[in-house]
Amino acid sequence: MRLLIIGELNGQLGAASSIAVARGAQVTHASTIEQGMQILRNRGADLVMIDVLFDIKDFIGRLRAEHFSLPVVACGIGSDAKRAAQAIRDGAKEYIPLPPEADLIAAVLQAVAEDNETFIFRDPLTRQVVALAEQVAPSEASILITGESGTGKEVFARLVHRKSNRANKPFVCVNCAAIPENLLESELFGHEKGAFTGAIARRIGKFEEADGGTLLLDEISEMDIRLQAKLLRAIQEREIDRLGGSKPVKVDIRIIATSN
Ligand SMILES: Nc1ncnc2c1ncn2[C@@H]1O[C@H](COP(=O)(O)OP(=O)(O)OP(=O)(O)O)[C@@H](O)[C@H]1O
Ligand SMILES: [Mg+2]
Repeated sequence: MRLLIIGELNGQLGAASSIAVARGAQVTHASTIEQGMQILRNRGADLVMIDVLFDIKDFIGRLRAEHFSLPVVACGIGSDAKRAAQAIRDGAKEYIPLPPEADLIAAVLQAVAEDNETFIFRDPLTRQVVALAEQVAPSEASILITGESGTGKEVFARLVHRKSNRANKPFVCVNCAAIPENLLESELFGHEKGAFTGAIARRIGKFEEADGGTLLLDEISEMDIRLQAKLLRAIQEREIDRLGGSKPVKVDIRIIATSN
């Protein structure tokens, strides 16, 4: 969750920021709307909290003009009902009275995170793909998702996981293209202490991390061909060998892979 706070942090907004950080949000800060827009352009955010004293209507207008669609929450000292109502009319999703209540901040972060999981689309062909994804999601079938860059392969993989019986278990993503070849095996299957120089402790791999849940092998076609053979065994037998391990480890995973 990336949270952008617009306003002076020396006061109560600072306290709101610390609460959000404690709840796992990555917080960036801007003192002016212009600075906030700059941060959105450069880094993006999932949620904006803005001091109600700023011109909320103008800010939301600027977000629309630049096609940013993210929730805006207004924050102000005390529960000034009039000002809060105005902020909502101007397009804010919520009004948080300051000093901030930890539970309220947590609830807002939670609600935004859940909203973000809704799949947004208009195209009728996408509807068919979503229907197919939802249809296969509850099965245990392995899935290969292909498509050009940016077409939403990862978004679909997450959708399948969410709609599966494994939704409450981990969703673990491995970008096969981003991990150097010599590290990939230990990354996927883990290693025992002393398996190689630098293996100072046992480490479980992504397969074990995803136990009970879904493992996304992103850009699987980039994986070294020799490793693909080991992968075949893991997929067929649902069994892996940690590097330096003496016996195989059973894993219960659903596999989704992508390729472009
Ligand atoms: N909830 C959502 N609903 C609809 N579209 C979304 C949602 N979340 C993200 N997107 C859009 O999905 C696209 C990115 O999708 P994703 O990262 O899954 O693509 P990809 O096919 O994995 O691309 P690449 O091959 O570059 O990794 C972006 O355009 C993003 O704006
Ligand atoms: Mg991707």
